[in-house]
Amino acid sequence: MTSALPYANGYIHLGHVAGAYLPADMYTRFLRSSGEEVIHVSGSDEHGVAILISANEEKVTPQEIVDKYHTANEEAFRGLGIAFDIFGRTTWPEHHATAREFFLALHAGGYLSEKEEEQFFDPEANMFLPDRFVEGTCPVCGYEGARGDQCDNCSSTYNQTELKNPVSKISGMTPELRTTRHFYFKLGDFQQRLDAYVDSHESDWRDHVLQQSRSWLKQGLGDRAITRDLSWGIDVPLPGYEGKKLYVWFDAPFGYITNTKVLAARSGAPDDWRRWWTDPATRYVAFIGKDNIWFHTLMFPAMLMGYNDRGGDAYVIPDNVPACNFLNLESAKFSKSKKWGIDLREYLAEFPADPLRYVLAANMPENKDADFTWREYQARVNNELADIYGNFVNRTLQFAGRYFEGSVPVLVAAAGKENEVKALLVEDLRRAALLDAASDVIVGELEPKYLKYFTRNDLAMLVELARAPHRVGLLYRAFRFREATLETMNVARAANKYFNDAEPWKTRREESSRCATSINICLQVVRSLAILFEPILPATTSAINAMLNVAPGTWNDAADLSVPTGGMLGEPAILFTKIDDETVERQVARLGAGADAAAEPPIEVALKPEVTIEEVMKLDLRVATVLAAERVKKSEKLIKLQIRIGNLERQILAGVGRQYEPEQLIGRKIVVVANLKPAKLMGQESQGMLLAANSPDDVPTVVVLVDREESVRDGFIVR
Ligand code: MF3
Ligand code: ZN
Repeated sequence: MTSALPYANGYIHLGHVAGAYLPADMYTRFLRSSGEEVIHVSGSDEHGVAILISANEEKVTPQEIVDKYHTANEEAFRGLGIAFDIFGRTTWPEHHATAREFFLALHAGGYLSEKEEEQFFDPEANMFLPDRFVEGTCPVCGYEGARGDQCDNCSSTYNQTELKNPVSKISGMTPELRTTRHFYFKLGDFQQRLDAYVDSHESDWRDHVLQQSRSWLKQGLGDRAITRDLSWGIDVPLPGYEGKKLYVWFDAPFGYITNTKVLAARSGAPDDWRRWWTDPATRYVAFIGKDNIWFHTLMFPAMLMGYNDRGGDAYVIPDNVPACNFLNLESAKFSKSKKWGIDLREYLAEFPADPLRYVLAANMPENKDADFTWREYQARVNNELADIYGNFVNRTLQFAGRYFEGSVPVLVAAAGKENEVKALLVEDLRRAALLDAASDVIVGELEPKYLKYFTRNDLAMLVELARAPHRVGLLYRAFRFREATLETMNVARAANKYFNDAEPWKTRREESSRCATSINICLQVVRSLAILFEPILPATTSAINAMLNVAPGTWNDAADLSVPTGGMLGEPAILFTKIDDETVERQVARLGAGADAAAEPPIEVALKPEVTIEEVMKLDLRVATVLAAERVKKSEKLIKLQIRIGNLERQILAGVGRQYEPEQLIGRKIVVVANLKPAKLMGQESQGMLLAANSPDDVPTVVVLVDREESVRDGFIVR
């Protein structure tokens, strides 16, 4: 397993965590618990222009920048329980050696070409200027603050040499044009092999990963520059190229390999890295955020294929690239300049790791963007972690502590039968776990045999316990971590209900053996939950193992009744602390505070020509109630709404599908242009238009909802 090497020029925030590191860690932990041999490799990405820019801004050397962020990020990951086998660095000499080796092999294999081109050179700073270090007038629209390769005003992209009145952002001087030579990777040479590679993963890759990769393949792959005129990075290992460096995106992916080599060397078996990278039986999974897809499904595989062409041991290429989408924060994008973000470091200074892992996992942006809100955090911590999982574990242990002298009561009350019945039951449950039948049916089949010892409720709980590892395991293997998390919580939900239905506080007096059986079963379920939750909540699992006084279990132990009767229990402790409203409000208030207003200039507004009041009155704006809402098939953007405007019913199509789930709109009162001439969109009739606030780039789009809804009826006129 690898997860994308984060740039060492900023702190890890929750978006990074949800996008790559947490799913990678959950997957690794799950596989390891299931008995598979697996390593998880990551590290800092320490080269590139972005780091040079940060160094300029913070007025320190690039080395100081990467040292600072590497250390901070490694520590934050550790605090969150991300169990990397190694978290390396691309500034390591070992890495420079790996990157050079690949470069030279690709060069010798004929996969690199050289081109001469003109670029801006700053004579005062004595360096060529990367795109982000020049500014000027847009060659397309004449906007004056245009960036080196792109205009923020008209969105055109161009070559930096086309920029008018260029100015160096380093010295403020006008740069001069100089010729320079660069190496290009002939990615186009791999077109067919990459087509076949991506096609071969049609059924196992996530849809959006497949789609993005295919759309680039369809456009046709061309040469990609892989060297830069820069002072920071890995030297191009050929004479005549002094002062030039490898492009950061060329060297970084090889960091996965370097870091594996260093891991092997540290463990005293320096050759062991080959087993991971060059054994054809290795399954390589690369976890990334969606902005890295291209590099991991096309560029990096091609670089490995090109290297493999030299003969000898061949590197494995990714078997899966389960990229996540983005995580927003309280409905807006993470933004450094707007101070809209939560650094992992900041979070961990105030809260424990596991609740965050759970909330992010339960809402993981797997197939579409997701939103982190402190309200949801509070709700999930309080209503799910504390009230369901924590409560079940706590009441079970409290009960055993108080009424069974802190030991595990007997499962089977019949004298001398405990071992025999338990062994039989475990066998039957194992078999039942793999049956493709409804739980009721299975319980029904077990009932006659066991009714002497267990109630129907007991059996239902035991069957649930036996089946969960397989069911949840399948979700992990399908990279459906969000569902795996929700399913795991469902087991805890069933456990809590079981405790309620068993009423041990009543049976304790009249039927003490019944009570013992229930509490034994509850303790078995606590153990199973600890195992099933371990990929999500590792610290909680350790705490529960201590309370149960058991060694860590493996995934399949979760299906067995592995807590021994008579075992002494440790001290119960509260697992999750509830989050109060005040904490939520404080956290929300912090967002965006202290943002530099100048960092975000007001939007430039060009008004349309004036209209008269008569013209305004022609528009029939009305309040409408949303009766039904569903997505329009094959459209990411369109939602079809059935609305009521007084005594009229209408259907309208609204382009808010990226920002809203249909359910969020049902029952709400919105504002529509009711007399708009009907039109057809994607074959469907739209009889009106919903009003929404749109930013110039359409993100976010916020539907105009009616304030004080209770006093407003649909059909009201809006003016
Ligand atoms: N540093 C890059 C980013 O944060 C990711 C690099 S992934 C690697 O977007 F493959 F290059 F290592
Ligand atoms: Zn422009």
